[in-house]
Amino acid sequence: MMLEVDDLQIHYGTRDGAARAVDGASFVVPEGRIVGLVGESGCGKTTTVRAIMGVLSENGRQAGGRVVFKGQVMDEATTRRLRWRDIAYVPQSAMNSLDPVYTVGAQLTEVLTRRGGLSRAAARARSAELFDLVGLSERRLGDYPHQFSGGMRQRAAIAMALALEPSLLLADEPVTALDVIVQRQILDVLRSLQQRLGISMVLVTHDISVVAYLCDDVVVMYAGQVVESGPVREVLARPRHPYTMGLRNAFPDLLADAMELVPIGGSPPDLREPLSGCRFVPRCPFAQPACSLDLPPAAGEGHRSACRRDGEADSLRIAALDPRTWQRSSSFAMS
Ligand SMILES: Nc1ncnc2c1ncn2[C@@H]1O[C@H](COP(=O)(O)OP(=O)(O)OP(=O)(O)O)[C@@H](O)[C@H]1O
Ligand code: SF4
Ligand SMILES: [Mg+2]
Repeated sequence: MMLEVDDLQIHYGTRDGAARAVDGASFVVPEGRIVGLVGESGCGKTTTVRAIMGVLSENGRQAGGRVVFKGQVMDEATTRRLRWRDIAYVPQSAMNSLDPVYTVGAQLTEVLTRRGGLSRAAARARSAELFDLVGLSERRLGDYPHQFSGGMRQRAAIAMALALEPSLLLADEPVTALDVIVQRQILDVLRSLQQRLGISMVLVTHDISVVAYLCDDVVVMYAGQVVESGPVREVLARPRHPYTMGLRNAFPDLLADAMELVPIGGSPPDLREPLSGCRFVPRCPFAQPACSLDLPPAAGEGHRSACRRDGEADSLRIAALDPRTWQRSSSFAMS
């Protein structure tokens, strides 16, 4: 297994107490697969990938669980040793963080000399290779960020992450804020990188249609927990967790004409409050009183779902296709 995330718990210290941004998340990234990490804003996706990279913000700490990369438990020393060489990361908004006063090529060369210890000449040669790999012309190395389109800047950010030939790439929202055509181009770049380099990827997105387009497996997060995971085709064709059913209704298919979009009413819970039971209760159209009592463990092999009513998933899925089901839940959440 390339990566195992096992009962990961990440807390942020805040003035109002600890925010449990990731609260017992478990999932795996098999070799050579692209795993989509999906969920609404604030559900802990960025925190999860930053924890794997060992680059949590100052007030964040790992309060429990473990990350295992190719059989090695990632303690601080191991993480430092593997960071960028074996596990690399395209941060959220990376394409907007290029420095406007240096050429893109100079910034890429800088990354290669600083992180990889390459000589200037070797770094320049490698920069040209990396540009080619992400579909940018070598001639553009001398351009400044403002001469690049958004899609080109995102390609450059991906090239920087690939500088030291990692075997696992974590990409945080790599297509958010790009138009749909450019989104598809970047997703195609990621797919071709996966195929040419044989690497594994974790693709973070709030958009389930991006997962449908690119990913092999999907991990659905809600309020710091993994509620459903499994092979993409299976999970999207036959979601078993009501949150996944709701997400699927809320996004147009990248490839199909927009069908009626039905938002999930309400919003995710405040992670600084103590929470018990299923976190989706206030928004779930299928919630029952028992759902608030304790957390249902994820059930199933391969395709796993953590819902107390998992045994009724087939009939809930049919009900979830009816927009009126979700209107009912949103009026509950607001009342
Ligand atoms: N440095 C921090 N200090 C305190 N709380 C934080 C910090 N960073 C994130 N959080 C909180 O942790 C939770 C998870 O945030 P995170 O950024 O991981 O979510 P996300 O799923 O990546 O969201 P988005 O889709 O908006 O990027 C949120 O409630 C957020 O407010
Ligand atoms: S456990 Fe209950 S509230 Fe949670 S998703 Fe399942 S049915 Fe809905
Ligand atoms: Mg994020």
